[in-house]
Amino acid sequence: MKIVTSPAEMQSIALDLRQQGRTVGLVPTMGWFHEGHLSLMRKAKDVADSVITSLFVNPIQFGPSEDLDNYPYDLERDKALAAATGVDFLYAPEKDSMYTDAFSTTVHVEGVSEGLCGDARPGHFDGVTTVVAKLFNQTLPHFAVFGQKDFQQLAVIRQMVRDLDFPIEIIAHPIVRESSGLAMSSRNTYLKDEDQDAALSLSRGIANAKELAADRSATVEKIKQSVQQDIEKHQACEVEYIEIVNATSLAVCDNIDSESVILLAVKINNSIRLIDNSFLLASS
Ligand code: PAJ
Repeated sequence: MKIVTSPAEMQSIALDLRQQGRTVGLVPTMGWFHEGHLSLMRKAKDVADSVITSLFVNPIQFGPSEDLDNYPYDLERDKALAAATGVDFLYAPEKDSMYTDAFSTTVHVEGVSEGLCGDARPGHFDGVTTVVAKLFNQTLPHFAVFGQKDFQQLAVIRQMVRDLDFPIEIIAHPIVRESSGLAMSSRNTYLKDEDQDAALSLSRGIANAKELAADRSATVEKIKQSVQQDIEKHQACEVEYIEIVNATSLAVCDNIDSESVILLAVKINNSIRLIDNSFLLASS
């Protein structure tokens, strides 16, 4: 596996790969790899001849009171994991090469970036779309793989790709979970032993919501209330949002159908922000 740090070198490698007739798959990440990230890399290997994983803790998608300074980072650890997963290029640019002092462009997607995490984290999706547009131009992929764990992010990126005519196929990968049900996340590293039960309230809440949805008599409001009550039984949990939305438009659902997704964001101990989601009528 080759390590690349310069955007210009990355772009020239990507151009060479394309000229050789190879297809390129990109997995954008902020590092501290877990099985969720690694499964995205394996998916990229399945669909593309060459796999680039980017590792960049993107400062412009963090709010002023968020965890940028504490975000877990260990390049040596991540290099070993990416190499063992068969990644061809680990692209880890320096902050100054991504954002020079003269940098002055923002990619802003309207609509699907509003509400949910967009409300809770003002400016977050602008930071995501701006960096992902840059990563697309630097790595020139045919395919880019994103996790459904960040459901709204995936919708925002799909919208950007459509609107800006990026010739890239966006591939969604299902959420990878711990055996306990907890959705894997780099932020789980902040959880202490005594926080585990509170953290599990998200996946348990989703399981409860799916049971209620399967019994077609439960309304959207009833399901949301029931999940909220379950989660708030844990003193450490503060619900940021619980919404049931249409998977494509992210518009709030009046009724449950096969396109309805429940999305949750919960803060544990007022600091660790966890998200989770699931289609309500799907079996897994
Ligand atoms: P990061 O949080 O590192 O996630 C990188 C990718 O891994 C995202 O597509 C995310 O949805 C996916 N992922 C994370 N946990 C997962 C899980 N448990 N199962 C499946 N996929 C999972 O998302 C970002 O970084 C950034 O916003 C980024 C897109 C890289 C832009 O900076």
